[in-house]
Amino acid sequence: MRIYISNSKSESENTFNSHNLDGLTMQREQWGSRFGFIMAAAGSAVGLGNVWKFPYLAGSEGGSAFLIIYIAFMATIGIGLMMAEIAIGRSSQLNPVGAFRKLGGAAWSWAGGLGVLTAIIILSYYSVIGGWTIAYFVDTITGATFGGSAESLGSQFGALVSDTTRPLIYDIIFLGLTLAVVIAGVSAGIEKAVKVLMPLLFLMLIVLVARSVTLDGASAGIDFLMKPKWAEVDMGTVSAALGQAFFSLSLGMGALITYGSYLDKKTNIRSSAAWVCFLDTFVAVLAGFLVLPAVFAFGFDPSAGPGLTFITLPAVFSDMWGGQLFQAFFFFMLFVAAITSSISLVSIPVSYFTEQFRMSRVGATLTVGVIVFLLSIPCSLSLGIWSGHTLFGYGVLDLLSNTVDWYLLPIGGVAVSVLVGWVAYDKIAAELTNQGELPFPMLIVWKWIMRVVAPVAIAWVLIGPLWERLAAAA
Ligand code: TRP
Repeated sequence: MRIYISNSKSESENTFNSHNLDGLTMQREQWGSRFGFIMAAAGSAVGLGNVWKFPYLAGSEGGSAFLIIYIAFMATIGIGLMMAEIAIGRSSQLNPVGAFRKLGGAAWSWAGGLGVLTAIIILSYYSVIGGWTIAYFVDTITGATFGGSAESLGSQFGALVSDTTRPLIYDIIFLGLTLAVVIAGVSAGIEKAVKVLMPLLFLMLIVLVARSVTLDGASAGIDFLMKPKWAEVDMGTVSAALGQAFFSLSLGMGALITYGSYLDKKTNIRSSAAWVCFLDTFVAVLAGFLVLPAVFAFGFDPSAGPGLTFITLPAVFSDMWGGQLFQAFFFFMLFVAAITSSISLVSIPVSYFTEQFRMSRVGATLTVGVIVFLLSIPCSLSLGIWSGHTLFGYGVLDLLSNTVDWYLLPIGGVAVSVLVGWVAYDKIAAELTNQGELPFPMLIVWKWIMRVVAPVAIAWVLIGPLWERLAAAA
């Protein structure tokens, strides 16, 4: 049995608590501080979704009308599920598979297994995109990808992603950095890294926003984002808001179960979850203020996805005074957003392999790395030499990413809410109040959000668009 030891002397006394796993007493590693935990969870939540999806979605789906709906979901289902996942992890002191089994019985193991599988699938394309952020950072500094028209930047982006070897080399670098942090351990690796990286991300973001909103013509972008356009709001808007809130908080796949399992018993789960939701929303809104004013000021059209961050924004930076420096900042920030998410993704299968198969941390992390890298090869090549091979009309990367967003994450979310609402309610409610120590007057509200509101709303997002998609795929 492996015993995890923190490197930090000052923390080593009380950062452990023993628990019993299969009859063996095991020392479980813990976060050194509440701040470290919040930064790690916020690092997981703040990712590419905040930067390339949220600004466009908010602007095109009703502006501040969308924002109000989005925040309403964040404050109810979002925070509720986040508290639930953290409490599942802390109560069970286990990886997602073990946690579901412990709380719900063997019949629930599949839900944790689904999370582990989803993490590996997300990683296989997240690491490819993470690699692009490094490539762009390097190419911005050398000047190779800086300046030029949107067309020429578009073909440069096309040349990078469709290349056979270059994206895979950057993929290995991105994965290698992720694995190195995870191997170093929960408090000595992950926590140390996020405590530096996340504040740095906030700082870079604020600098970039200040640059963007002071451009001539910035107000058109601010209007696009902030004007309430209730006429554009329909059921599609509501389901897009819930889907985005869900994805953005990294819910439904055991990331927060895993991180929650390293949380000490005294920390207030509710206020920590509220902080993470707040920071995630704050970054998404700030990303809107970064992206849209700049895009509008230089007369480009906003879009969602890689085109926005890898083509439109570089075109904007080209026209901007000090553009090269700001572009370097931007891609470094995007890299930080991506790697702190990918660290949390790797942690999920690593906790599963170390606990259920008694692998060493190094062995488990390297195993995950090899599996993910092998899967990322077809993802990357699907944009290049394998672009002719599609299934249901999608290349490998799009197919995997849509399967995750549309099916795997919502199914995971329904599983979490049903487990805590109906099966293990008492245990999780006790965990949320630290066994009765903390008052929680809204407990009854949380209970019914978990029992009814969350599963119904998520099922609706899951099933609603199904027919359209099946028709489109056929
Ligand atoms: N929240 C991340 C983003 O906004 C994406 C994501 C979804 C994720 N599920 C996750 C990241 C689980 C880490 C772990 O880009």
